Amino acid sequence: MQKILYKPFNNLFYKSYLPTIVHSAMVVGVFDRLKKNTLKVNELAKVMNLHFGLLNTLIKVLKHAQFIEETKEGIYKLTEDSLIYFTDEYAKNQISGLQKFVAKDSPFSNLTSLLKSGPPAYMPNRWSTKKGMFAIEQDAKAGSIEAVQNFIISHAEFKTVTNICDYGGNSGYYTRDLIQTNPNVNIDVYDRPEVCEIAQDLNNVSSIYKGKINHIAYDITTVKKITKNYDLFFCSHILYHYMGLNGVEDSLESIIKKIYDTLNPGGLFISNHCGEKLSEEDALTNQIMELNVKMSGFPTHIISERSLISILEKNGFKILKMIPAAEGVHYGTMLLSAIKL
Ligand SMILES: C[S@@+](CC[C@H](N)C(=O)[O-])C[C@H]1O[C@@H](n2cnc3c(N)ncnc32)[C@H](O)[C@@H]1O
Repeated sequence: MQKILYKPFNNLFYKSYLPTIVHSAMVVGVFDRLKKNTLKVNELAKVMNLHFGLLNTLIKVLKHAQFIEETKEGIYKLTEDSLIYFTDEYAKNQISGLQKFVAKDSPFSNLTSLLKSGPPAYMPNRWSTKKGMFAIEQDAKAGSIEAVQNFIISHAEFKTVTNICDYGGNSGYYTRDLIQTNPNVNIDVYDRPEVCEIAQDLNNVSSIYKGKINHIAYDITTVKKITKNYDLFFCSHILYHYMGLNGVEDSLESIIKKIYDTLNPGGLFISNHCGEKLSEEDALTNQIMELNVKMSGFPTHIISERSLISILEKNGFKILKMIPAAEGVHYGTMLLSAIKL
């Protein structure tokens, strides 16, 4: 795989959120509690009256940032350094020094209150404006689009693909350039109605895409049956909507079954998603992202490699290729392909 240069910047920028996160943990009393802790995180959440999902991810952030350590399975306590520098037990503590790094206007500014009240309901339309769509596409340009396209093209089966589904594909930036490699392909991009409307304008810019990209207004939360058949079904950062999100009818397994039914025999399923097995540095970034995603009302944005593979194999797919999250692009994404048997 080519070297993706944005990853170190991305990791560095995510780490800049740490002072705000650590400060919140102190304010709600996590550091005091973890001085001599013997409780598991679910018990801690109960006695501290904090939201379990958020506390659980906050604890993982603190662990990967080496402020705390796991003493027994599921039980964490402060490291020696944290005890000295971040509790008022020691005269040389740096609690006030930390304040100057705490950002007033950051995605984590309301972490303290959300830890107490729980996250709000998620907003499905955050990627539905021209500005939001531009931002998410621009983000994918930091290496993800190239990685995804190279991965798709690396399959011999791609040469005979004609119908592609880009499910939850926004304006279609991940798949649209595949037309240049294989002019026979037609792409259906499924997304919310307002996204499809804006996307029509964006894709009309280039004549090469004319008549080749179809935007299908769709609601992924209430999937009945996908009526068309495809040779390639592509999912990028969309399967996590099926991991217990309020209001979504399908589970990860039931949506995979629907994808199987919609694929032609020998059809390819390809997923680009945040994985679990990461380098230590990416694990920190991914847990900070996970905390942010949970604060916006999602149960998770990470899909475990093991569970996705086992669901696919159980439902008639054979795994073809994988690029593990540890080698993925700046989000710690995993690329996986499977073929319908
Ligand atoms: C995290 S973005 C992923 C976009 C793109 N696949 C990518 O990887 O960059 C989630 C996408 O799901 C779409 N979406 C959210 N809720 C939806 C719904 N109920 N029905 C259809 N699409 C939805 C959003 O508009 C957005 O394009």
